[in-house]
Amino acid sequence: MECKKISIRDFRNIENAEIAFESGVNILVGNNAQGKTNLLEAISFTALGKSFRTSHEEEMIRFGAESCEISLDFKDSVREQNITVRMMPGRRRHVEQNGVKVSRLSEIVGAFRTVLFCPEHLSLIKEGPAERRNFLDVAISQLYPVYLKSLQKYNQILKQRNQLLKHAEEDRRSFDETIEFWSRQMAREAALIARYRVRYLKRAAEKIKICFSEMTDSKEIPEAVYAGSSHGEPDSYEDMDYTENAYYQLLMSHHDREIGAGSSLWGIHKDDVEILINGKSARAFASQGQQRSLALAMKLAEGEVCADICGEKPVFLFDDVFSELDASRRAYLAEKMTNRQVIITTCEPFGLTNGKIIKVENGSYQI
Ligand SMILES: Nc1ncnc2c1ncn2[C@@H]1O[C@H](COP(=O)(O)OP(=O)(O)OP(=O)(O)O)[C@@H](O)[C@H]1O
Ligand SMILES: [Mg+2]
Repeated sequence: MECKKISIRDFRNIENAEIAFESGVNILVGNNAQGKTNLLEAISFTALGKSFRTSHEEEMIRFGAESCEISLDFKDSVREQNITVRMMPGRRRHVEQNGVKVSRLSEIVGAFRTVLFCPEHLSLIKEGPAERRNFLDVAISQLYPVYLKSLQKYNQILKQRNQLLKHAEEDRRSFDETIEFWSRQMAREAALIARYRVRYLKRAAEKIKICFSEMTDSKEIPEAVYAGSSHGEPDSYEDMDYTENAYYQLLMSHHDREIGAGSSLWGIHKDDVEILINGKSARAFASQGQQRSLALAMKLAEGEVCADICGEKPVFLFDDVFSELDASRRAYLAEKMTNRQVIITTCEPFGLTNGKIIKVENGSYQI
């Protein structure tokens, strides 16, 4: 996978820019607040259909501009392609793939695959479950469109079910009439999503183990397991009927608690990934350095699983991570970047000598 060129108009502080990339390492260098992360955000947005910084589309449009446009040329092993996105406040986004309009940006997720790594990801282990779920959701959505569809459906159902729980006391009748339906729908999607997550984690766990041991020279063994709120054993998730019923039972057994909370307390939106080192929770017991190494290993594993499944390497997007790492982790990361395309942002080049340097100043990009 290779990002060939991006053209941007009125995105964040970028009024107009056209940037061509090398197939290897590309280094965006510049002072703070010049537009380095903005450029990575534009690339990642085109790949994922969402920003890693905001859920408010209008924030991405340059102050004072009426709309913005990103056009990305990329190449996979088969052909050259283009994705173009135009955004205007209050209107639906306009998305085209190879000149043909698509109705939603989510339909093209997985066409151009990336692995994003920014400083916040270094806290993946010690953060709450939402960050780890997001890690899974982004990684798996780029591999399996059916996963993303199911996730979107699940989130819609969750919204409906939460509304029902919120208003249960005022409208007990409609609660009693429909809760079974929504719980069944939710459990059905949950079973599919959980199975994908468990399968993905099994593959990723192997890669995490390897990366962690290469990076740290440690004999300690990390594991990554799915901690589902349905309490199934990892292998039980293969049986989707079983998982569906397990979630369904939970969703039908604690209505009073859920009504009290006004929201759904069980389901894949509550599940977690448990990271262990030598059988013990890394969140509770690992040192800060180990937690950072594990987080880095998770991100590298994401790239490797993607390459194994799709047969080609995703593009790595590294936002300002080199400044956060010590020399040995930096060296390891640099070694992992060979034979693939990487787009890095940094204030200082940190000894990154071979690569295309792109100077960033006030939303302009110069080679
Ligand atoms: N919608 C917008 N319109 C215009 N400018 C914006 C918009 N959103 C953000 N900016 C500006 O973009 C700049 C930040 O750019 P960016 O986050 O890319 O910086 P950076 O080069 O990554 O800096 P750092 O090294 O500090 O991370 C800020 O000055 C901010 O005011
Ligand atoms: Mg930045």
